[in-house]
Amino acid sequence: MNWQAARDKHPGDGECSGKKIVWITGASSGIGAALVRKLVAEGHFVIVSGRNRDTLLKIQQPSPKLIKVLACDVGDDASMAEAGRALAEITDQLDLVIACAGVCEYEDNLELDVKRYRRVFDANFFGVVNTLHQALPLLANSRSPVFAAVGSLSSIVGFPRAEAYGASKAAVSYFMESVRADTSRVRLRTVLIRPGFIDTPLTKGNDFAMPLMMSPEQAAHRILRGLSGSRSIIDFPRRLSWSLRMLAVLRPVWHKLCAPRITRIRKLRNN
Ligand SMILES: NC(=O)c1ccc[n+]([C@@H]2O[C@H](COP(=O)([O-])OP(=O)(O)OC[C@H]3O[C@@H](n4cnc5c(N)ncnc54)[C@H](OP(=O)(O)O)[C@@H]3O)[C@@H](O)[C@H]2O)c1
Repeated sequence: MNWQAARDKHPGDGECSGKKIVWITGASSGIGAALVRKLVAEGHFVIVSGRNRDTLLKIQQPSPKLIKVLACDVGDDASMAEAGRALAEITDQLDLVIACAGVCEYEDNLELDVKRYRRVFDANFFGVVNTLHQALPLLANSRSPVFAAVGSLSSIVGFPRAEAYGASKAAVSYFMESVRADTSRVRLRTVLIRPGFIDTPLTKGNDFAMPLMMSPEQAAHRILRGLSGSRSIIDFPRRLSWSLRMLAVLRPVWHKLCAPRITRIRKLRNN
């Protein structure tokens, strides 16, 4: 008997009723791991994905009945096709999917190393497409399916050194807008989540100021609060989101006053 069948066998059972079946990618660390902890504490069933199976098994340890491990590389089509098959063995239905997996690599000296861009886009953009591809048939079996993808507030304006990362997150934003338009007559809620700076391994190596930094727990709280409402975009922290949106409107101010203070490039390389 798969997970959904086990849950639905006792629909009136207080333990199972109202509990969602959730798939989270990027669940082994940072924001994803904090989301898992909160969802499991509320009694939801959570399938956790990431590339490192051993780390996922550690995440599963405290709640083996509520957590299933599904190791996969979201940027690898074959790995995701395999994950889709494994997913269908675990459950016939997904109520909530959060595509949270992501990596960050910065540009130094505008090297424009295309391999770097492909790595970042594979995880951050194609990872979201692959996740939705595998999840869609199972979301279709839910009464109120939700697909959420984690973008970034950094995609609102063009940050120095963030050519690869910011572009991948801007692609996620546009993709989610398009999917929202294409699913406007069917039962699927899509949500774009755009965090500011969160204290996770992804930001550990950052050697620049990260204003209004939040903990992964605070981020998970904001995300789940947003998902319980009806918004299609969840931005936080609000003060950073508003400042960046304002700068996006006043683009010349950003490019003439702010960017020159942040960029490290003083001379174009000529070799
Ligand atoms: N931290 C921030 O300030 C911040 C701000 C805005 C947006 N975000 C976004 O939030 C998301 C989570 O980031 P985080 O800060 O929590 O980072 P994190 O702690 O480094 O977690 C990243 C997660 O993604 C997984 N992952 C990476 N590449 C993967 C791949 N190809 N396939 C499957 N899983 C993969 C990692 O597990 P494995 O390495 O085991 O695969 C890990 O579980 C990312 O999309 C990030 O861009 C973060």
